[in-house]
Amino acid sequence: MSDAAKQLIGTAMTSASVPKPFAAYAPSNIALSKYWGKRDHARNLPLNSSLSISLADWGSHTQVSPSDDGQDHVTLGGKELALDTPFAAKALRFADLFRTHAASAPLRIDTNNTIPTAAGLASSASGFAALTRAICGCFGLTETLSEAQMSLIARLGSGSATRSFWHGFVRWDKGTREDGADSFAHPLDLNWPEFRIAILPVDVGPKSQSSRDGMNHTVVTSPLFNSWPDQAEADCAAIESAIKEQDFETLGPLVEANALAMHATMQAARPALTYLTSESWTLLERLWRARQDGLRAFATMDAGANIKLIFLKQAATDVMEIFPQAQMIDPFSKP
Ligand code: ADP
Ligand code: DP6
Ligand code: CO
Repeated sequence: MSDAAKQLIGTAMTSASVPKPFAAYAPSNIALSKYWGKRDHARNLPLNSSLSISLADWGSHTQVSPSDDGQDHVTLGGKELALDTPFAAKALRFADLFRTHAASAPLRIDTNNTIPTAAGLASSASGFAALTRAICGCFGLTETLSEAQMSLIARLGSGSATRSFWHGFVRWDKGTREDGADSFAHPLDLNWPEFRIAILPVDVGPKSQSSRDGMNHTVVTSPLFNSWPDQAEADCAAIESAIKEQDFETLGPLVEANALAMHATMQAARPALTYLTSESWTLLERLWRARQDGLRAFATMDAGANIKLIFLKQAATDVMEIFPQAQMIDPFSKP
């Protein structure tokens, strides 16, 4: 069976030009309705659709250029990485999807994350979206490929990267085709200027288990996983309508419940998996107490210990008072 993303690259690369340096930026994103579980590992196809909000200027800056010494190079935050580190190897394996069609040009990949790497703040999302844009630019494909097509290609690097090609709210349709031709993201065409996100940092160091490994372990061993795909699909649809209606009172509880259900599937995995620490739970308890006192903010958590809050502008002062460590993001301000 073919892979639609690889076919798309093959067709596009027939119009590739001589590689030239190209720099790109992609925002990270936080799923309000989570992607958790794959139906196809090779093509990185999800079991359920997901919906996210992009994080404005929190993301990845990546430049891809022809290498001038005949060797591949990968730098992260200005530091050269050995080519056999998992980070460099993954980035180069992704570049190889293009290079099989282009006389194996040695490349230099220089990337810089304005978010912590591998800490559950979706660096794989901004990282592979920025890398896809930069490789496409380097080979002169930005006119040939649409953003939707780049989203489909970036999926091969990381699923959440499909959602990092646009600002604002973005939905990744799981698709139903076996070759993955209909599994890519599109932006929800709406502006919600009052919408705010706050990151409550708990642990910004790299996690001990990647999202991919944690997800796969949960799918294979958790007896609670069976109910996840249908529930997640229903949550995604309900979350999308609440966003379209700008109905925060419906949206907030759905988003928090969806995240907690995902974490419940991990807790039931054998052996159990938890990315949340006692500090994460302390913050959640503080949030729940504050909600009883009237605060309108809700939490979401990914494969990492950090807590993310969503709320509207009018709650911002209260959020800052209760969580002075909060790092506020205004996702609809133009970065
Ligand atoms: P996160 O929660 O940060 O997305 P993951 O476990 O999903 O954590 O993915 C982390 C991996 O994403 C890194 O180990 C690396 O392989 C990849 N990654 C992160 N940032 C970049 C980047 N700027 N360019 C290329 N790959 C990246
Ligand atoms: C919990 O996109 O990092 O953040 O496709 O294997 O690279 P791979 O996984 P990744 O998983 C993200 C999981 C999540 C939820 C989400 O972002 O939707
Ligand atoms: Co990730």
